[in-house]
Amino acid sequence: MALLEIQALRRRIGGNEVLAGIDLDVEAGEVLALIGRSGSGKSSLLRCIGGLDTADGGRIVVDGIGIGDAARKRDLRERIGMVFQSFNLFPHLSVEGNVTLALRKVRGMAKAEAREIAHAMLEKVGIADKAGAYPRALSGGQMQRVAIARSLALQPRLLLLDEVTSALDPEMVREVQNVLTLLAAEGVTMILVTHEIDFARAASRRVAFLHKGRIGEIGPTKQVLDTPATAELREFLGFRL
Ligand SMILES: Nc1ncnc2c1ncn2[C@@H]1O[C@H](COP(=O)(O)OP(=O)(O)OP(=O)(O)O)[C@@H](O)[C@H]1O
Ligand SMILES: [Mg+2]
Repeated sequence: MALLEIQALRRRIGGNEVLAGIDLDVEAGEVLALIGRSGSGKSSLLRCIGGLDTADGGRIVVDGIGIGDAARKRDLRERIGMVFQSFNLFPHLSVEGNVTLALRKVRGMAKAEAREIAHAMLEKVGIADKAGAYPRALSGGQMQRVAIARSLALQPRLLLLDEVTSALDPEMVREVQNVLTLLAAEGVTMILVTHEIDFARAASRRVAFLHKGRIGEIGPTKQVLDTPATAELREFLGFRL
């Protein structure tokens, strides 16, 4: 069984079919890059998987748990981590406070143990030296790495990343991408929405191209990016038609 299974997923907003029947499986340890034009439904798809939006039809199962299974809502929330373009750090908490908060409040973990995990995660993303700093004293790239460390601290089975480098200056894009490449090599299962095709190429095993709320193409990264089968993807990638 795949870690993530999606069947016939639909979501409507107003009269608009934002997700028009998505079927998708993601295996444990896999990195899937999600690409597509603005408005194609990439964020909507991630939000449905993460339980932030409710689908109008279809089925999403993560690690054997159906999204919408009210009795297992908490289990599900613990299994899925989400990181967004805007880092959403708590400004009144230090870096360490941001990373330990959920461990303490949700997991009920003792302070010392939560701190130990936080430091290990901050080490992993390369900013252990900033543990005592407040978000306002960090660069965008550092803030995003804290947000990633905060997600990782809860050991999610599936990490959803929505354009996590889009708000960053070019030199900071690379440092965040390096962290994600490291996580990919460690076998963290990820779906990453990105506009950076070179990064998708470097980090992902498969690419899905979303077009008008449907999966237009999906397959091994090199195949999809080098030999797109549809005119829509060829145009999106800037191939000469
Ligand atoms: N809250 C909302 N209210 C109305 N329409 C919405 C809402 N959220 C999304 N949409 C519409 O759903 C469609 C898909 O949006 P979505 O944000 O998923 O696209 P996206 O692929 O993530 O685009 P981008 O690359 O710009 O982030 C768009 O047509 C958008 O206008
Ligand atoms: Mg989006």
